[in-house]
Amino acid sequence: MEPSRDAIQEALGKVIDPELRRPVTELDMVRDVGVAGGEVTVRIALTVAGCPLRSSFQDQVQEHVGGLSGVDSVRLEFDVMSPEERTALTTKLRGGVEERSKGISVDRTTRVIAIASGKGGVGKSSLTVNLAAAFAGLGHRTGVLDADVYGHSIPHLLGISQKPVLVDRMMIPPVKHDLKLMSIGFFLDENSPVMWRGPMLHRALEQFLSDVHWGELDVLLVDMPPGTGDVSISLGQLLPRAEAVIVTTPQPLAQEVAVRAALMAQKTNMRLVGVIENMTSEVFGSGGGERLAERLGVPLLGQVPLDVRLRECGDAGEPLVLADPESPTARTIVELAEGIAATQRGLKLLPVLS
Ligand SMILES: Nc1ncnc2c1ncn2[C@@H]1O[C@H](COP(=O)(O)OP(=O)(O)OP(=O)(O)O)[C@@H](O)[C@H]1O
Ligand SMILES: [Mg+2]
Repeated sequence: MEPSRDAIQEALGKVIDPELRRPVTELDMVRDVGVAGGEVTVRIALTVAGCPLRSSFQDQVQEHVGGLSGVDSVRLEFDVMSPEERTALTTKLRGGVEERSKGISVDRTTRVIAIASGKGGVGKSSLTVNLAAAFAGLGHRTGVLDADVYGHSIPHLLGISQKPVLVDRMMIPPVKHDLKLMSIGFFLDENSPVMWRGPMLHRALEQFLSDVHWGELDVLLVDMPPGTGDVSISLGQLLPRAEAVIVTTPQPLAQEVAVRAALMAQKTNMRLVGVIENMTSEVFGSGGGERLAERLGVPLLGQVPLDVRLRECGDAGEPLVLADPESPTARTIVELAEGIAATQRGLKLLPVLS
């Protein structure tokens, strides 16, 4: 018996756009369904030509439509949306989000957590991706914003090489390991680094932040640039109601600069969640995190040991939390994420630093 169009429509409702995370039927991407005996042809309109996600659609259509009774073969054809269709899609996608502010387009309920530090090289980016993977593992819809204009190492740490898809002016974050990623680095090729300095900086950041379509997120982790420069200040202003986690190394001397980063976070109205000590070991010792937390009057969230596997996994593009979830370091990071998840935004006003 020939499969019914209703059954095919229903099966297409299970085909999810991997980046927009919604069924193709809801996104008005299904152009055409042809049925001739057991041969079904489906045409899907992609947001852009040469979309890197073709194979995902192919697999999903094969699975859901191909699995229907009466279907012998499925052929999937691709089309590209017209500018009008893209605008309609943009409007539709934007519609769901209650604007948080002019700056970043995430919902009011999304927790925005900045991972900050006083100096570079303390492990912000490594912790950001691992915490993100841990949050995702705990069931939170998680995004990562690589806002380090000097380094932008997150795409490499997550093994993401594809650029975001642009729909009109809206940038759709690529997805890997169940994480949505947007990096300022994606745009450095085309936009000269000059944009990220001086008078253009604030506008450029604001533009960048408001053009990203995050969709529904529970938590957005932001890998901040090190230190307290212009970029950090602008970001602080553009991420309203953000919270901050300060990363420090165990050495006593690291504390001074870390305090400055914390102060700046507070000046831009971020709530300090706590401190993470990273690279705890015989080489570097421990205790710096504790001292900093005391000084700031916030909790020490945890200590992440110096662990060569953390670096190796980062180099290989897969966070340790995913590559070796049973390792002690991975467990520590998952506990950290649980601890952060348990802290509720805005419940308690933290002491103001002098
Ligand atoms: N706990 C750890 N154990 C071992 N290596 C680590 C650990 N944390 C970070 N590293 C390594 O230290 C180096 C610096 O880490 P990372 O790039 O995450 O720091 P960062 O604070 O983001 O630096 P930057 O300021 O340059 O952006 C990397 O090579 C990383 O793999
Ligand atoms: Mg970094």
